Amino acid sequence: MEEVERTLVIIKPDAVVRGLIGEIISRFERKGLKIVGMKMIWINRELAEKHYEEHKGKPFFNALIEYITKAPVVVMVVEGRHAIEVVRRMAGATDPKDAAPGTIRGDYGLEIGDAIYNVIHASDSKESAEREINLYFKPEELFEYCKAADWFYKEKRKAKC
Ligand code: RTP
Ligand code: MG
Repeated sequence: MEEVERTLVIIKPDAVVRGLIGEIISRFERKGLKIVGMKMIWINRELAEKHYEEHKGKPFFNALIEYITKAPVVVMVVEGRHAIEVVRRMAGATDPKDAAPGTIRGDYGLEIGDAIYNVIHASDSKESAEREINLYFKPEELFEYCKAADWFYKEKRKAKC
């Protein structure tokens, strides 16, 4: 279905070292989004620079690369209706001091480092989602499966799942 999208989420190093992996994953599951790929990796400098190439040359670029390579991360591909927009809204504003309560950045962060340390990353457009998913996942690392409630919601759309 055209409105079903996939987006890339990264549970960033600050969230991993603070023991927030489970809390964050739970939010996506409870919202009804489907996790179709997930792994823990330690991002190296080369991958970090590729991921954040749009920010090259900005004053916070080096600090951002240091931040995202400082500890392991969990990368996930999350699927659902309008997943890109929905996950961005669940993430909240970039600076956790501005992020609304109820959002992930609003609920789980306040302190920042040399760059803004803000718990998660979420793709910001269809183009970024596609590029970022390909950066972190091989096609065989992404799975199609049915969730228990799929028959209930998706009958009308005649979707397989
Ligand atoms: P993200 O790409 O990580 O989902 O975050 P975003 O779209 O909300 O923000 P973006 O402008 O793309 O910035 C990427 C990440 O760089 C760090 N940052 N630090 N002034 C600063 O120190 C600064 N500005 C941005 C944040 O970690 C931000 O998420
Ligand atoms: Mg961004």
